Amino acid sequence: MKEKQLLMIPGPTPVPPGVLKSMATPMINHRGPEYARLQREILRKLRLVFQTGHEIILFPASGTGGMEATITNLLSPGDHVLSVSIGVFGDRFARIAEVFGAKVERLSSEWGQPADVDALQERLARPDAADIKAVLVTHNETSTGVVNDMEAIAGVIREHGALLLVDAISGLIAMDLPMDRLGLDAVVAGSQKAFMIPPGLTFVALSPRALGASKEARMPRYYWDFGMMLKSMEKDQTPYTPAVSLYYALDEALSLIEAEGLPAIFARHALLAEAFRKAMEALGLELFAQEGYRSNSVTAIRIPEGLDVKAFRKLLREKYNVVTGGGQQRLESEIFRIGHLGFVGPFDIISTVAAIEMALSEMGGPAPLGQGVRAAEEIIMRKPL
Ligand SMILES: Cc1ncc(COP(=O)(O)O)c(C=O)c1O
Repeated sequence: MKEKQLLMIPGPTPVPPGVLKSMATPMINHRGPEYARLQREILRKLRLVFQTGHEIILFPASGTGGMEATITNLLSPGDHVLSVSIGVFGDRFARIAEVFGAKVERLSSEWGQPADVDALQERLARPDAADIKAVLVTHNETSTGVVNDMEAIAGVIREHGALLLVDAISGLIAMDLPMDRLGLDAVVAGSQKAFMIPPGLTFVALSPRALGASKEARMPRYYWDFGMMLKSMEKDQTPYTPAVSLYYALDEALSLIEAEGLPAIFARHALLAEAFRKAMEALGLELFAQEGYRSNSVTAIRIPEGLDVKAFRKLLREKYNVVTGGGQQRLESEIFRIGHLGFVGPFDIISTVAAIEMALSEMGGPAPLGQGVRAAEEIIMRKPL
């Protein structure tokens, strides 16, 4: 028998059975009334999860498509853009802006650290910062397991007046990101993360200021054009054929999210992330992200000295059926990553910790059997009935 697999990567994440089933709904006319109702209902629920009263645009694409759409709709070639990068995905956001002709200045942190808010404030206070048109920030850096202090970052950028464009692809829904309250101008998300649906949809929420900027911006775009999209959305349609089956999945998943409620979802992610972190520490493993900025959706763990990470992850996958994420780029042989976002519960965490203990023990690593599981259980038991 093919054994049950635990998918513990930071996206794509497991999809609840009811959501999977919804994707088998027969096709409908995407220019007809049933579709219009579906799109309206999706947008109502999306505004709840983005915590915004403003426009939200959906494209059939992975998250990177949403990042590119944000850059090309809000900026013009030659615009001065400040990239606050703390890892692989922050660098990607900067690179997209560069490819489309923005003048990109980088304010990068060492990997594992959050954005340096004081350095950002200092940079934005200099006279030559006056022409900075936009600041690019990653809410949750999936490559390092670091979550930025968005409240502090947003405060500093609002004072300056630049547009604040946020990649929240792996953070939204798992951790609180109140778009309107923080004054974020664009928030990009992706379906395969805490939305609990398969890959294939990206979302961009826009402030009125961002919408205004999109009317002036001159970077080339056609398929990604926000103006065309919004005009069509006024008629409850999209200009091009929407990913109807993913919309069914989204409608269903958003209903689950609405029923659980954002505060409960944030609390669940916080509890499970803490249980996992404590378990790793109980095993003597070192967490990669700086304390105080550890993500509740993904944890990066340093590989103990002398342990072959490829062989370790292979053992976890092939013997224990637990699929983990590897390190990206220069972190390839330094860390492994566990995603604990979306459709995740306490026993996903406990099973993963148990598998890690066994694999480490087999490979001669520092793994007192049961110690990590015990630490996780102690945290999980705090959950009220
Ligand atoms: C923070 C972040 N930004 C961007 C991306 C890219 O998204 P996609 O692979 O959906 O294009 C990811 C994907 O993991 C991510 O975690």
